[in-house]
Amino acid sequence: MTLIRFIATDGTIREMHGAPGDRLLDLAQADGQPLEGTCEGQMACSTCHVIVAAQDFARLPRASEDEEDMLDFAAGATRTSRLACQIRLERTWDTLTVRIPG
Ligand code: FES
Repeated sequence: MTLIRFIATDGTIREMHGAPGDRLLDLAQADGQPLEGTCEGQMACSTCHVIVAAQDFARLPRASEDEEDMLDFAAGATRTSRLACQIRLERTWDTLTVRIPG
């Protein structure tokens, strides 16, 4: 299991657990985080944009070119931005911390 830590725009931290294979967007929505995920993972909206903590970002599989292109449209995107619909938890991840963009 991976301990997911969501940091809201106001700094509030919420934690939950996810299993290998779980999609980060689904976990975030189940937790009530304000990620719309309008296109349901088709990489056509960027409303699932999250900012990943630097130490966790380093071990994620690289973003595809399509994901990179969509992140160019995301408001407040940073060097460690990802689309939550494209992140599936892996067995070796103990923790994953992501910030919800304001
Ligand atoms: Fe639309 Fe992730 S849900 S890009």
